[in-house]
Amino acid sequence: MTTSLDFESPVRLKAVAAANLPTVTPALEELYRGFEKELLIPLWTEIGDLMPVHPRSKAVPHRWRWDALRALAARAGELVPVGRGGERRAIALANPGLAGRPFATPTLWAAIQYLMPGENAPEHRHTQHAFRFVLEGEGVWTVVGGDPVAMRRGDFLPQAGWNWHAHHNATTQPMAWIDGLDIPLQYITEAQFFEFGRDEISDGERTTPERSRAERLWGHPGLAPVAQAVKPTRPGSPLLAYRWENTDRALSDQLALEREGYPGTVEPGHAAVRYTDPATGGDVLPTIRVELHRIARNAETRPARETGSSVYAVFDGSGTVTVGEQTWSVSRGDLFVVPSWQPFSAKSQAGATDSDSGALDLFRFSDSPVFEALKLNRSSTEASPAASTQASTQASTEASTADEARAKGDAQ
Ligand SMILES: [Fe+2]
Repeated sequence: MTTSLDFESPVRLKAVAAANLPTVTPALEELYRGFEKELLIPLWTEIGDLMPVHPRSKAVPHRWRWDALRALAARAGELVPVGRGGERRAIALANPGLAGRPFATPTLWAAIQYLMPGENAPEHRHTQHAFRFVLEGEGVWTVVGGDPVAMRRGDFLPQAGWNWHAHHNATTQPMAWIDGLDIPLQYITEAQFFEFGRDEISDGERTTPERSRAERLWGHPGLAPVAQAVKPTRPGSPLLAYRWENTDRALSDQLALEREGYPGTVEPGHAAVRYTDPATGGDVLPTIRVELHRIARNAETRPARETGSSVYAVFDGSGTVTVGEQTWSVSRGDLFVVPSWQPFSAKSQAGATDSDSGALDLFRFSDSPVFEALKLNRSSTEASPAASTQASTQASTEASTADEARAKGDAQ
């Protein structure tokens, strides 16, 4: 069909016989052809998709095995050079519900990045907020704003948008880590910028200090520098590395306090910490929340659901995780996604080969700051999709009831 705009209309409308929809007649069909020609779509044919009773993410629960990711990344290390243009040997998780796009969830990118011995990843900057989390190995320094920052197993390294950054592997071993970014979210906003930096960083930057300048300024608990010259001028944490020994101790202390009868854990056997910006106390990145959860040996978390999506990486231990209708066994390095409003729970089940205390350590990142800023955050510990039992979600219960009443007559 050709429109007055002289191109084929992408609008296709089908008159359907259903309750609460207009009676299908030749006149209605003619009306719909008129809508198609003028690029118009009535709400009454779309409301079930556009205004669902509860979130229906196109993303689906999925798990990626670390062994498979690691092997393919190593093969890419042999075949694919790192250099200007492609920029990074980063291999993204593609959620099977998101049409083959390199998106783990509708808002979050997660990738394994691999750097061969002696390799340098060239300098660039972009508006996308990013972080690195090291699942194994060491020997790469990421250079952010000219500050070399060591990367080791368990370290979390945030890097807010528009900071220059490059990487260099100073060892004779390849190294792999997890990249997390808000690429899909920024893709939707159409507000992205990207700029190439130098092809080579200076010899002074290609050094291997134990502690970065950022850590020497901002890495002291409860202490912020007073000098105006070092105050952050852009959103995002000025602390460029959160070391595993601190995270590990914080989690161990929570479980110890619980054993001694004091509060500290989220629920019995479930310790959790959130990485925060030392200058503000808020989330470490404007669009991404990052946490580490430790589930003690044989403990199990209560099923919970939230609006917004999460990506998890198993840092240590073994267990089973349930996301919606899916239950998987997981072990070190595995990654999985929790789409919006899908119930999630995890159980620690120490494996024969686990070298730790039997706890399941789960690294988690989510888009929660975005949902909170937009006042779209809701949570529930109930299993049913429309349930909202927390006081803060009373309004949602009322809204859901109204929506469900409407949906009973909805033909979608
Ligand atoms: Fe980058």
